[in-house]
Amino acid sequence: MKKLETTYMGLNLKNPVIVSSSGLTSNVDSIKKLEDNLASAVVLKSLFEEQILHEAGALSVQSDYPEADDYLRAYVTSNNVENYLELIAKAKASVSIPVIASINCVSASNWVDFAAKIQQAGASALEVNVFVLPTDSKKTAEDYEQVYYTLAEKLKNVITIPVAFKLGDHFTNPVRVVEQLWFRNVKGVVLFNRFFAPDIDINKMKVVSAEVFSNPADLRDTLRWVALTSNKVQNIDISASTGVHNSEAAIKLLLAGAKTVQTCSALYRNGHAHLKVIVEGIEQWMSQKGYKSVDEFRGIMGYGKVGDPAVYERSQFMKYYSSHE
Ligand SMILES: Cc1cc2nc3c(=O)[nH]c(=O)nc-3n(C[C@H](O)[C@H](O)[C@H](O)COP(=O)(O)O)c2cc1C
Repeated sequence: MKKLETTYMGLNLKNPVIVSSSGLTSNVDSIKKLEDNLASAVVLKSLFEEQILHEAGALSVQSDYPEADDYLRAYVTSNNVENYLELIAKAKASVSIPVIASINCVSASNWVDFAAKIQQAGASALEVNVFVLPTDSKKTAEDYEQVYYTLAEKLKNVITIPVAFKLGDHFTNPVRVVEQLWFRNVKGVVLFNRFFAPDIDINKMKVVSAEVFSNPADLRDTLRWVALTSNKVQNIDISASTGVHNSEAAIKLLLAGAKTVQTCSALYRNGHAHLKVIVEGIEQWMSQKGYKSVDEFRGIMGYGKVGDPAVYERSQFMKYYSSHE
């Protein structure tokens, strides 16, 4: 398996397949099982800013005293934080693969102190899962993007472990956002997060959760933007996420220029052992093609490397329709 070795944000990995942030990475037993099934690193379940504030808010309803509210809020916050730091330390002590912590934030200020604690607890790197839902018509796209940039600048001053930003696919110009993050010392980007989305149950007349898990067809946007971004922002490490359900998908993303891939829904659907199938599938393909290292084929099918770069730029179906009448 030596030929699968790679690096991600300066971390040495035994292969390019990382388990993404989810319930699968929220406890040490599961993380150990993932390591046994060839995970090269894990991104821990995110600690959510929203979750902490919400839990503290729910508890405080029971109290009539503002001082008690403050106390409860501080207690809940620090308890969540303590549990998370303990998870980092325990995971680090139990496995030999890198353990990447994850924070979810919706603002550029609240989490910076906590990032220092994550580093102290021994996290190998930090993935920042930041998403500011743009709902204010008075704000420009730049206003929203600035939150990401300010956060990156603040983190740069607080921690020395590598930082990755896990982004959504809603930006007008994702390549520019990634480049701006690189200028602010962000070493990696995860393209893309797959967010919780609402759906409507027309029988029960209720707003419900849309399908939580991805399916293999969701790879399409990931593939396009990995190919484009890896060509245009060459120094940042890209970890491809969303739609990686098998080794074929992982290979495509590496060919498009990803440094690593992340997977999660496929493991929920097929069990931890499916990870091994994905990793071994990459190795078998490399043997068939005669590749001795991942670097030998990484990016060779990226934007600018294939004869016609327009294949990654084309977005309308004109040709497709004309041949499917
Ligand atoms: C049950 C579940 C929980 C998740 N929790 C988190 C989380 O805490 N933080 C995060 O950044 N992403 C979270 N995700 C998103 C995944 O990390 C991943 O980016 C997304 O599912 C797309 O990858 P996939 O196609 O391999 O599932 C979660 C996904 C699922 C299905």
